Amino acid sequence: EFKELVFSGVQPTGNLHLGNYLGAIRKFVALQEGNDCIYCVVDLHSLTAQLVHDDLPGQIRSIAAAFIASGIDPEKHIVFNQSAVPQHAELAWIFNCVARIGWMNRMTQFKDKAGKDRENASLGLLAYPSLMAADILVYRGTHVPVGDDQKQHLELARDIAMKFNLDYQDHIRRAGRGIDITVGDEPVHAYFPMVEPLIEGPAPRVMSLRDGTKKMSKSDPSDLSRINLLDDEEAISKKIRKAKTDPDGLPSEVEGLKGRPEADNLVGIYAALADKTKIEVLAEFGGQQFSVFKPALVDLAVQVLSPITGEMRRLMDDTSHIDAILRHGGERARARAEATMKDVRDIIGF
Ligand code: ADP
Ligand code: NA
Repeated sequence: EFKELVFSGVQPTGNLHLGNYLGAIRKFVALQEGNDCIYCVVDLHSLTAQLVHDDLPGQIRSIAAAFIASGIDPEKHIVFNQSAVPQHAELAWIFNCVARIGWMNRMTQFKDKAGKDRENASLGLLAYPSLMAADILVYRGTHVPVGDDQKQHLELARDIAMKFNLDYQDHIRRAGRGIDITVGDEPVHAYFPMVEPLIEGPAPRVMSLRDGTKKMSKSDPSDLSRINLLDDEEAISKKIRKAKTDPDGLPSEVEGLKGRPEADNLVGIYAALADKTKIEVLAEFGGQQFSVFKPALVDLAVQVLSPITGEMRRLMDDTSHIDAILRHGGERARARAEATMKDVRDIIGF
């Protein structure tokens, strides 16, 4: 058995939103108890969205501030910035040689982000999931809390790990590095574990407040579509009041949310914020109109988010404190990543 390790990352691009919080950061916080966790600001990834950033250091600090304001303990666990650990990029190169172009071409996020003009997309955008696999596996991470949009990338990380393990099986044995595991029915002498996504919960994919068929996203041009972690009470209230709904009230059973994506989304958000199931939320609000439910959702969202917003702002003003946390985390992460890369170089024969 591989030693359990939780790893995840968030890109320093634009405003963090409620989807990032419920799909990712909130789970990072919950997993701290009893686990070894590494949480990363993935700045190398952010170049695939935008090559030149006005204030990349400020964006990096704001993600680290969000982690810490949400309750991540940077002493017990590791919080750092990806580019501070060059071993991520080194392993990503090896994974670029392991992964097949056909695998990358099938990624729905690549297809969405590259759009019609695929020939003109960056090579980095295509290779993104290979770097993501390296981020996790350079620590031999076993569990990855993410939103539902990342599921396909984690399947690819398993494919990359599996192919590396199989291709280098004899070398891994010779170097005396791997352990015997079974994947499906197949016995494998593995150096890299098969990562498991942690996606479950009532809001694995938070949808836009303006269009229940699109995910809430940093890149949506409408600010009304998302609740930003730095929004104040007034903005949260306005956005939830204006959120798209249908004319019916809330059903008393979860089945009644089928075919009603906006209602389903708001109930899922409430459930996640309240740490309840959708069934419990509908037991409370079933039969009520949105004119009753929305104000309750505003109160709950403000109650959960406003302490985080306040702490995030305070931390973002204290740049030397955040920088010290990232530096310390980077040193610890680097030592662990280098131990893996020593093995990997040995296995390959460098
Ligand atoms: P974004 O997708 O907003 O650009 P990232 O790619 O940095 O942000 O994703 C950070 C984390 O937030 C990932 O785990 C991702 O799955 C999660 N996430 C992003 N958007 C949503 C959403 N709408 N619902 C749930 N989780 C999300
Ligand atoms: Na994403």
